[in-house]
Amino acid sequence: MTKVLFVCTGNICRSPMAEGILREKLRISKIPVEVDSCGFEAFHVGDPPDSRAQEVARKRGIDLSSHRARLFTPLDFDEFDFIYAMDSSHFKKITRLARNESDLAKVDFMLNVLYPGQNLDVLDPWYEGMKAFEQVYLQLDDACNHIIEVLSGKSV
Ligand code: 4NP
Repeated sequence: MTKVLFVCTGNICRSPMAEGILREKLRISKIPVEVDSCGFEAFHVGDPPDSRAQEVARKRGIDLSSHRARLFTPLDFDEFDFIYAMDSSHFKKITRLARNESDLAKVDFMLNVLYPGQNLDVLDPWYEGMKAFEQVYLQLDDACNHIIEVLSGKSV
């Protein structure tokens, strides 16, 4: 089965929101694709998503509470087909760990699904307020709509 992985810093804000959003769209569209998320910093490993991330998702009927933060490992290259980095720091770290061309080909910037080839960052909302979380959520929702189109074969 196709598997999608989202990667950010702490795995408590951006990537769990993206995971929850995409999982809900996959469920509604009845597309059999698995989705997961992880991070690069150990500060929050084992923690549930940030309460602000949970709140913006809950408002749209998406429950993130069961997610627990974990770290990226090179074994994720074996498990996943598409690996989306939230910003350039994650992209660099993931691609540095790639073992071969096949691993590398799986990695892209999340926002390249909306703005191909521009390598734009999903801004880190961690030090910001609810407004930033709302903005990030909407951007991730938009990007996930495009991922759904690709996964359902409606787009290339
Ligand atoms: P995330 O946000 O990478 O979107 O989960 C962050 C969460 C925690 C930290 C930084 C970003 N931190 O420095 O603890």
